Amino acid sequence: MNVPDTSRSRIDTMVPDRSITENTTASVQGFGNVARYAIELYIRLGGKVISVACWDQADQCSYTYRKLDGINLEELLSITDRFGGINKAKAKELGYEILPGEAWIEQDVTILIPAAMENQITGENVGKISPKVRVIAEGANGPTTPEADTKIRERNIWVIPDFLANAGGVTCSYFEQVQSNMNYFWEKDEVLGKLDQKMTAAYYAVSDLARREKLYMRDAAYATLRADDCECVARAVPASREPRPASRSGMPSKACSKSASRSPTSSTPQESRTRPSDSPIAARRSGGTDACVIPAG
Ligand SMILES: NC(=O)c1ccc[n+]([C@@H]2O[C@H](COP(=O)([O-])OP(=O)(O)OC[C@H]3O[C@@H](n4cnc5c(N)ncnc54)[C@H](O)[C@@H]3O)[C@@H](O)[C@H]2O)c1
Repeated sequence: MNVPDTSRSRIDTMVPDRSITENTTASVQGFGNVARYAIELYIRLGGKVISVACWDQADQCSYTYRKLDGINLEELLSITDRFGGINKAKAKELGYEILPGEAWIEQDVTILIPAAMENQITGENVGKISPKVRVIAEGANGPTTPEADTKIRERNIWVIPDFLANAGGVTCSYFEQVQSNMNYFWEKDEVLGKLDQKMTAAYYAVSDLARREKLYMRDAAYATLRADDCECVARAVPASREPRPASRSGMPSKACSKSASRSPTSSTPQESRTRPSDSPIAARRSGGTDACVIPAG
């Protein structure tokens, strides 16, 4: 079996690969916690964000703030309220174009980052996505409706699905659980290093599977997750089919945590292959197991 190499050395040599992001542009929906860090990291990797959309409390509608030369993150943050809303008048003074809220999705950019809320890319607006868009990185949870997802898949846009793209937060929560269990606390750099390794390994596991098996990225992510999930259940419910013991904290049971700490790439091809009847979207809508979402490395 061709197991993707997600070792530290490979990760070190491949991330950050600025050539992937240099000369690319992005349009972002949202300017809150998720969007700001996504923008900061993307700019650090050499990308240019040309527009951000956010909610305007006073006008009770959303606007898109665009600067084709690239937004200045610090400048925009200095005129943003604590809810992630940008001051429209000040943005105008700073030379931003003020466009309708929906305009973020129509931009001629390489990457779209929906990072505001769920159900934002829909059957109605998916056709407005520019042919230039190559990647959709789902910062928000569930930003794409099933109808829109079908169109995006047909257009061969590379999707980084929500439960992969935005799993850093929940992974850190898992680290907190581990540290509390050990009563031994790591320095910030150690946390960030471990986070980098988990997230990067998870990304490569999914993207390598997608390329190898010619799968849509969301399917590959679910296949990776399901392979882990199957093993998780198998460990937690042995042949006697005894009920899974409840965990003390309400967090994933020990069996799940153990499974989560192994590489998702160690699944067999049979486990990983998505069956047509297993609609990832259906699985998501029916509330798939969050317990095993923590990316394994
Ligand atoms: N914060 C986290 O740790 C975290 C982790 C993973 C996923 N998420 C998901 O990411 C999404 C954003 O979370 P957040 O923490 O950044 O929220 P936030 O409240 O900090 O920011 C939300 C942003 O979206 C904007 N917004 C709201 N309605 C809008 C609309 N109709 N059109 C355009 N912009 C709109 C707001 O103005 C704000 O800028 C949510 O789906 C959340 O579930 C958050």
